[in-house]
Amino acid sequence: MYNSKISGLGYYVPDNIVTNNELSKFMDTNDAWIQERTGIKERRWIKEGSDDTTSVMGAKASRIAIERAGLKNEDIDFIVFATLSPDYYFPGGGVQLQEMLDMKTIGALDVRNQCSGFIYAISVADQFIKTGMYNNILVVGAEYHSSGLDKTTRGRGVSVIFGDGAGAAVLSRTNDNTKGILSSHLHSEGKHAEELIVSSPSSKRWINEIIDSNNKEDESYYPYMNGTFVFKHAVVRFSEAINEGLQANNLRVSDIDMLIPHQANLRISQFIQRKFKLNDDQVFNNIMKYGNTTAASVIIALTEAWEKGKIKDNDLVVLAAFGSGFTWGSVIMRW
Ligand code: ACO
Repeated sequence: MYNSKISGLGYYVPDNIVTNNELSKFMDTNDAWIQERTGIKERRWIKEGSDDTTSVMGAKASRIAIERAGLKNEDIDFIVFATLSPDYYFPGGGVQLQEMLDMKTIGALDVRNQCSGFIYAISVADQFIKTGMYNNILVVGAEYHSSGLDKTTRGRGVSVIFGDGAGAAVLSRTNDNTKGILSSHLHSEGKHAEELIVSSPSSKRWINEIIDSNNKEDESYYPYMNGTFVFKHAVVRFSEAINEGLQANNLRVSDIDMLIPHQANLRISQFIQRKFKLNDDQVFNNIMKYGNTTAASVIIALTEAWEKGKIKDNDLVVLAAFGSGFTWGSVIMRW
């Protein structure tokens, strides 16, 4: 068995910064409410007319990650692409990325696990490398939320938290068993699927019914979130996933050098930080600048933390996420 380690990281966010005050121009909200409840100050939203899409942003982040890994596109053996907002209903974004990066006919797998998407994606990639099937896998999380949000007061409980962006990691084979991904832990609880959902378009609804109804008031195309319910589950599941990862490796909380939590809400991260008694320099947050970028959030945060020199050789890095599904999980890595 081989080990896998991250050999390159990259992220891309659109230039267009949307502050809380700007949101208050088209919905009944305000900077104080958003910052107090979520910690978010601003987010990036793709400007209408821009060429950026979920897969285009994924490709931009990927090019940086591949270059930093010291590799060429042709060195990549497989793609795992996590998103809840693919460019098309089908096919998924993985094949578009494969085409944009001109990666011959390598396989491309799409992961549909929302905020836990990157955790699931990197875990899948790790298994392919562990068995020796592939050497270098491109693992991408990308999200284009802003085109699908209800940007009126009706949607304010959801739309203020989401942002656009993409991150990418190259996962490579290493023979050093002390480095890289030590373990990953994945969970789901489908009975809560409808607490955080975009229910249309859906194969449950006949397409002619959708076309015939053509109803502007149909809210099922917008994300629905039972915020308080999700929040309560998130804090419990985050803690469980982190503890499970530590126990599996005979590690203690004090061994954590860097925790990268999914950026769902700064209050959730702060709750986890207090619960585990971690210092500020042991937890990385950037939700203040980017909002919740779902499948992209963990990988954007990991990349930024690394770029800022907050992750050093041999550090114990813990990734954890919770989101729609419900799905949640953790990854334990030795850098
Ligand atoms: N601006 C001003 N007021 C608002 C806004 C807004 N943007 N949004 C809601 N309100 C109002 C509500 O209408 C409500 O008013 P009322 O009391 O008069 O009815 C009041 O503020 C409180 O609303 P709540 O929804 O109870 O607010 P809450 O404190 O729960 O915060 C939030 C909402 C931030 C969404 C929080 O519940 C949360 O972060 N939940 C978890 C999110 C999460 O972890 N998601 C998982 C990942 S996402 C994914 O997987 C796709």
